[in-house]
Amino acid sequence: MAIEMEKLVALCKRRGFIFQSSEIYGGISGFWDYGPLGVELKKNIKDAWWHDMVRNPPPGPDGKEIQMVGVDCAIIMNPKVWEASGHVGGFADPMVDCKKCKSRFRADQVAEATCPLKPSKRPGECGGELTEPRQFNLMFETYVGAVRDEENKTYLRPETAQGMFYNFRNVLDTTRVKVPFGLAQLGKGFRNEITPRNFIFRSREFEQMEMEYFIHEDADWDKCHKAWIEWCRQWLISVGLPESHLSLYAHPKEKLAFYSKGTVDIMFKYPFGVQELWGIAARGNYDLNQHATASGKPMDYFDEASKKKFVPHVIEPAVGVDRIFLAVLCAGYAEEEVKDEKGGVEKRTVLRLNPRIAPVKVAVLPLLKKREDIVRTAHAIRDELSRQWRVVYDDTAAIGRLYRRQDEVGTPYCVTVDVQTVGDTDKGESADGKVTIRDRDSMEQIRVPVGRLGAVFGELLGGARWADVAAGAASG
Ligand code: GAP
Repeated sequence: MAIEMEKLVALCKRRGFIFQSSEIYGGISGFWDYGPLGVELKKNIKDAWWHDMVRNPPPGPDGKEIQMVGVDCAIIMNPKVWEASGHVGGFADPMVDCKKCKSRFRADQVAEATCPLKPSKRPGECGGELTEPRQFNLMFETYVGAVRDEENKTYLRPETAQGMFYNFRNVLDTTRVKVPFGLAQLGKGFRNEITPRNFIFRSREFEQMEMEYFIHEDADWDKCHKAWIEWCRQWLISVGLPESHLSLYAHPKEKLAFYSKGTVDIMFKYPFGVQELWGIAARGNYDLNQHATASGKPMDYFDEASKKKFVPHVIEPAVGVDRIFLAVLCAGYAEEEVKDEKGGVEKRTVLRLNPRIAPVKVAVLPLLKKREDIVRTAHAIRDELSRQWRVVYDDTAAIGRLYRRQDEVGTPYCVTVDVQTVGDTDKGESADGKVTIRDRDSMEQIRVPVGRLGAVFGELLGGARWADVAAGAASG
C-alpha cells in the first residue's frame, strides 16, 4: 500500500528526524534541519557508503582488487573551477514567471506545478500570463572578502565532483594509486532549485556521495559502467530498499550531455512517483581536459605498461544522501494491526529500517521503574551495550507504549528487564539473570542471559537473521 507523504512528514517532525529549517521564523523553502534521530540515520547511511565504497571497495569489473581513496574538498572554490566545468555557462534550468502573481516555475514542470495564489491550482489558471522561458543558473553566488564586486564573486559548489577532478594530480602524486582507481567524496552541495519539493527529495542544500572511477582511455568503459550500475543497485538493496521499487532509466542518446557516453539513473518508486535516486555517468575525459586547458596544468597519466601518456576516462556514480534517506523511510514505513499485550488488537506504526542504518539499535526498557534493582540492571545493560552501539533507555511509559515508540522510529531490538531477571526475595523467587529481546518486525521475543547480550547483538547487528538467532537462543 502506498504511504501518504503527509504521514511520513508528520512522523519525521514528531519524532525528531527532520525539522523545517528556521521554522520559528516561518521556515525557508528548500532547506531542512536533521534532528536527533535524523542525524543518526543520515550518518549511518553515509558511514555505510564510505565503508563499502572507500574502505572495502568491491572488486573491479575484471574481478581484481581495486584501489579507492577519498578527499574532502572545500565548498567554496576558485570561481574558475566552475567556468572550466561548464557550470557558469550552462548549469541552468529554463524557468517561466507568472506576470500576475510573480511566481516562478520550471518551464518543463509547469504541468505538475501548483500556483501559490489561491484558489488557483495550476500556473496560469489565475489569469496571469506566463513569460517566455528564460535560463536560470542554479548556482548560489557569494563573495569572498569584504568587497562585494564581480572580482570577488564565487559560488557554493553545486556538486562535489569538481574538487575530485582538479585534485586528480595531487592524489596521483601523493598516493600510490594507479589507473584504474577511484576517488570518492561525500559532502554538501547547493542548488538554487526553482521548485524545491517533495519534502527532502529536491532541496536547495543537500548532501552528495560521489565517486570518480578513473580508467584507461582504451578500457571497456561500457563493461565498467554496467558493473558500477549493478554495484550501486545491490548496495541500495543491502541498506533496505526493496528490489521491486528500483528500476533503471537509460538517458536517450539524443538527450545525453555532449561529453557523456552514457548515463543510467537508478530510479526509486517514491509515493509521489518513480524518480531519480542515483545517476551513473560515463563522462569520458571531458572534466580532466577542461581543467587542464583552463589551468594550464597537465592532467595526464603516464602508463608504465604501455609507456604512453593519456588523460583517463571516468565512470561516475553520484547519489544524494537525502534521497536515500527519504527512500528508506518510504520503503520502511508501515501501519498495521497487531495484538496488544492483553490479547486485543491495536494499531502500530513501524519503520522497518535495516538494522545497519537504524538510528537507534537497541532500546533498554525496565518493566517496573519502581524496582530499584530492575532499573539498576537496565542502566548497566544500557551502559555496556552503548560501548558499541547507539542504545537508549526509556522508562517513561508502560511497556506496550514503550515498544510502540521504538517501532515508530525503527529501533530493531528492545531489551526488557523484568522481575524474573533480578528475582523477588519477598516471594522467594530467585533471579534467572535473563532478559527479553524483542524483534521489531516479527514482535517475537526470546530470553537471553545478560552476559550473552553483547554476543547476540553482535550477530543480529552484524547481519544475522532473527529466526536463526532465535533458534540458537532456544536451543542453548
Ligand atoms: N556530479 C554529477 C551530479 O551532480 P546530478 O545528477 O546532478 O549529478 C547527482 O546529481 C545526485 O545528487 C542525484 O542523482 C540526486 O540523488 C542528488 N541530487 C541532485 N540534486 C539534488 C537536489 N536538489 N536535492 C537533493 N538531491 C539532489
